[in-house]
Amino acid sequence: MAVTRTFSIIKPDATRRNLTGAVTKKLEDAGLRVVASKRIQMTKEQAEGFYAVHSERPFFNDLVSFMISGPVVVQVLEGENAVKANRDVMGATNPADAAEGTIRKEFAESIEANSVHGSDSEENAKIEIDYFFKADEIVG
Ligand code: PPS
Repeated sequence: MAVTRTFSIIKPDATRRNLTGAVTKKLEDAGLRVVASKRIQMTKEQAEGFYAVHSERPFFNDLVSFMISGPVVVQVLEGENAVKANRDVMGATNPADAAEGTIRKEFAESIEANSVHGSDSEENAKIEIDYFFKADEIVG
């Protein structure tokens, strides 16, 4: 299987509760390697741009407000079939539906404060990585 990359965000509910290390350990235990990482405060414009695909959804304004409510950690993850490996360890969007052992089952507070974002395809992973990282910030 090919080694690929995906994009991850540790969301404000997790950084607020000092769970950056605990979330990252779950990612690493799932076979993913952190090849880039930075803690940032997203601007409103950055969050609106990142989530532009959801701009017509009823929760868009809440989602943007939540994502700028505190620091996030943006990461590039590398591993075999990285998009799927990350989605599997993240668990379902709504923690009430998330499987045992997943990040969202263990840590998420609600469908909004759900601790992590992960790209849903390799195509989007590339777009999302490029949105936050320059090529020389990624060290594989
Ligand atoms: S859905 O509902 O199955 O379409 O979910 P999804 O497409 O994965 O959700 C896209 C992102 O929106 C977030 N989300 C919400 N935020 C706030 N309130 C509500 N009700 C809500 N529902 C979904 C969800 O966490 C996804 O964020 P990311 O960062 O992409 O994981």
